[in-house]
Amino acid sequence: MSNAPRLLTTPAELRAARSGGPVALVPTMGYLHEGHATLIRGARGLVPGGQVVVSVFVNPMQFGPQEDLGRYPRDLPRDLQIAGDAGADVLFHPTPETMYPAGFATQVTVGGVSEGLDGAARPGHFTGVATVVLKLFNLVQPQYALFGEKDWQQLAVIRRMVTDLNVPVEVRGVPTVRESSGLALSSRNSYLTGEQRAEATVLSRALKAVQAAYTGGERRTQALEAAGLAVLAAHPEVTLDYLKVVDGDMQAGEMVDNNPMNRVLVAARMFGVRLIDNMPLHAGEGGA
Ligand code: PAJ
Repeated sequence: MSNAPRLLTTPAELRAARSGGPVALVPTMGYLHEGHATLIRGARGLVPGGQVVVSVFVNPMQFGPQEDLGRYPRDLPRDLQIAGDAGADVLFHPTPETMYPAGFATQVTVGGVSEGLDGAARPGHFTGVATVVLKLFNLVQPQYALFGEKDWQQLAVIRRMVTDLNVPVEVRGVPTVRESSGLALSSRNSYLTGEQRAEATVLSRALKAVQAAYTGGERRTQALEAAGLAVLAAHPEVTLDYLKVVDGDMQAGEMVDNNPMNRVLVAARMFGVRLIDNMPLHAGEGGA
C-alpha cells in the first residue's frame, strides 16, 4: 500500500509542489480502473525518484452537446486510492472554471489524423482533447506523458500535436488492458450490466477475427474489414459507427503492408453506450 497522493486543485498549488526532478504525467478523466493504474505504474517506472502526476478532469470541451458529460462517472476518493496504490505522488483535480475561466478563447485543432473515424463521429472532440492536454502539459511541464493505446486515434492526435508544436514532452503509448473476457477496460463500462458487458465482448471478437484474417495472409483492406463485420452482423444490439483498418496516419489504402502500425479500429453503440476498441493487425504486437 502506498500513501495517498497529494490532492491539488489549482495551478499555483501545482507549481509549488513541483519537485525540480523529472516528472511523468498521466492525464485522465477519473473513475480510474486497471488500465489507468497500468499507465500510472508505467509513469512511476519512468521517473523512479521523480514525481508522478495524475490529472483527473472531466473535460467539458471534448464532449458534444448530446454526449454523456453530465452522467460521466466520478469517484474522487476511490481515484485517490487507486492512483496512490499505483505510485502517484500528486493528483491534480482542477475545476472547469480553473481550466476555462471567463474569456477563454483558444483551441488547438490538429488536422489530418484527427479528421476521420472518431473525429468524424464526434465533431470537436479531438480539439477538446488536444486543447486540454496542451494545457496540462504547460501546467505540469512533464518530461513524460503516458497515454493508452485503447484510444489509438487520440494517441496519434497527441503525438502529432507534440511534434507540430515542438512540445518538450516524450509521449509514451501503453497497450490496452482488458478483462479476461477480452473487453477493453473503460470508465464507460460502468454504464453496462454484467450481462451487457459479456455481450460487449463482440467488439474485441470482431477485431480478433480481423487479426486472424491478416495472420491467414489476407492483405485486402475490404476483406479484412469484412471478417470483422461478419462477427458484428450476428449481433443486432450493435449499432456500428465504424470498423476500419488504418495505417499509422489513420489512412486506409486498398491493400495493407506489414507495417506494425497498421491497426483495426471499431466504434459502436451498445445498450446506449458508445464503446471503442482497436488492435494491431499483427496479433501480439503493441504497435506504438
Ligand atoms: P480517459 O478515458 O480517462 O483515459 C485516460 C487515459 O487512460 C488515456 O490515455 C486512455 O487511453 C487510457 N486508458 C483508458 N482505458 C485504458 C485501457 N483499457 N488500457 C490502457 N489504457 C487505457 O482519454 C481520456 O481520459 C481523455 O481524453 C484525456 C486524454 C484525459 C483528455 O481529457
